[in-house]
Amino acid sequence: MALEVIILAAGQGTRMKSQLPKVLHPLAGKPMVGHVIDIASELSPAKVHVVVGHGAPLLKDYLADRPLNIAEQTEQLGTGHAVDQAMPHVDSESTVLVLYGDVPLIKKDTLEQLVARAEHSKLALLTVELADPTGYGRIVRNVTGDVEAIVEHKDASAEQLSIQEINTGILALPAAWLKDWLPALSSDNAQGEYYLTDIIEMAAKADLPIAAIQPSSEQEVQGVNNRLQLAELERWYQRQQADHWMTQGATLLDPLRVDFRGDIKIGQDVTVDINVIFEGRVRVGNNVSIGANCILKDCEIADGSVINANSMIDDSKVAENCLIGPFARLRPGTRLDKGAKVGNFVETKKTHLGEGSKINHLSYVGDAEVGCGANIGAGTITCNYDGVNKFKTEIGNGAFIGSNTSLVAPVKVGDGATTGAGSTITKEIPDNALGVARGRQTNLTSWKKPVKQ
Ligand code: UD1
Ligand code: MG
Repeated sequence: MALEVIILAAGQGTRMKSQLPKVLHPLAGKPMVGHVIDIASELSPAKVHVVVGHGAPLLKDYLADRPLNIAEQTEQLGTGHAVDQAMPHVDSESTVLVLYGDVPLIKKDTLEQLVARAEHSKLALLTVELADPTGYGRIVRNVTGDVEAIVEHKDASAEQLSIQEINTGILALPAAWLKDWLPALSSDNAQGEYYLTDIIEMAAKADLPIAAIQPSSEQEVQGVNNRLQLAELERWYQRQQADHWMTQGATLLDPLRVDFRGDIKIGQDVTVDINVIFEGRVRVGNNVSIGANCILKDCEIADGSVINANSMIDDSKVAENCLIGPFARLRPGTRLDKGAKVGNFVETKKTHLGEGSKINHLSYVGDAEVGCGANIGAGTITCNYDGVNKFKTEIGNGAFIGSNTSLVAPVKVGDGATTGAGSTITKEIPDNALGVARGRQTNLTSWKKPVKQ
């Protein structure tokens, strides 16, 4: 049976105190609703519908270019009404899974179990027992333990309020049932809303089977209403990631002080010091060492490389056994071949550094192609930009760039060539030649020190 997912995301999120719609607030660097959409996609649904309302323009911007059906709920009349906005686009033969855009950490396993029940013609609910069930819809069961109804907190009797099993809001059922029941909902309740939860009583009255399953952890079904809850979930999620990578063979010197924000993969015997942030798509090989306060974003670091403290690597590729930092900045388009070194206070951009080449100190190298075994001295600058256009610098194999050289691009330094320290190189240096371009030193032996007048 085809699966269709409906994600509710029309609510206001007043308690976030934000201009940004609640579901766009990021968790681990990704909007909450993005997490929900991604987990939904993992179930290979025929369609995913997102119900938007508050902050719809911003939400639609974020959702554009994704294969989604966006249903607009102009007035927030309740969860039942919200689901109903998507129904015209839902195939009656399908199974429907309802998710919330502000419950970001729901797991695939849990959803698969829920959907499996619904595919066997059941109304499948995800419930959880809470020590403090305040505010949630309560699961009402009959004497034999079968679910009979969900009663919202505001509508519950004193007896019902003592029930600790609550409705997470996540449920799955055959679309045909929803199509029958949604038009029959009434708003005659404490909140004057069309409650999706009223369909449970309809199912029970029609003697249709209702299954209730539980997630493996409370956090999976935790909704976010304010920034405190968002921060709590963020820490829980980060701890899970940290535990995962430790079990996979990484040493995290403090698992509470490392953040994973994106699609990260880490090899074995990798050591990560404190305050490291992994962001975007990051691939780290085996035996890599990452010092304190490093940011690794959209990059690949191959086996045996060492990244010393306070380095930033962005959209770059680092081969085996490279040495980076401390205080290095690899900007987009940097590619280091085996054993290359980029030392302290060095910035690179769109630069390919050949095997074993070094830029050890205080340099800017941008738009450059550097061969193997070259040594770029301290204070070297590629003058790659004339204020309008960018130009390329080529440095040959085994070249030696003297300290404080300015390479005015476009310019080429041949294989084995050398530049004199302090040179401003504007013309090509042939292979193995020395290029010197600086004022000659004059020593005035008759010079007298000034005396105080
Ligand atoms: C809902 C459930 C409650 C459950 C709780 C779990 C109902 C009637 N109640 O209550 O049983 O314990 O969630 O957190 O379903 N939304 C819309 N449009 C609307 C109303 C809501 O899109 O008109 C969305 C919200 O953005 C949110 C979700 O639906 O993502 C739940 O809405 P919310 O107002 O938080 O429902 P609760 O009253 O908490
Ligand atoms: Mg709620």
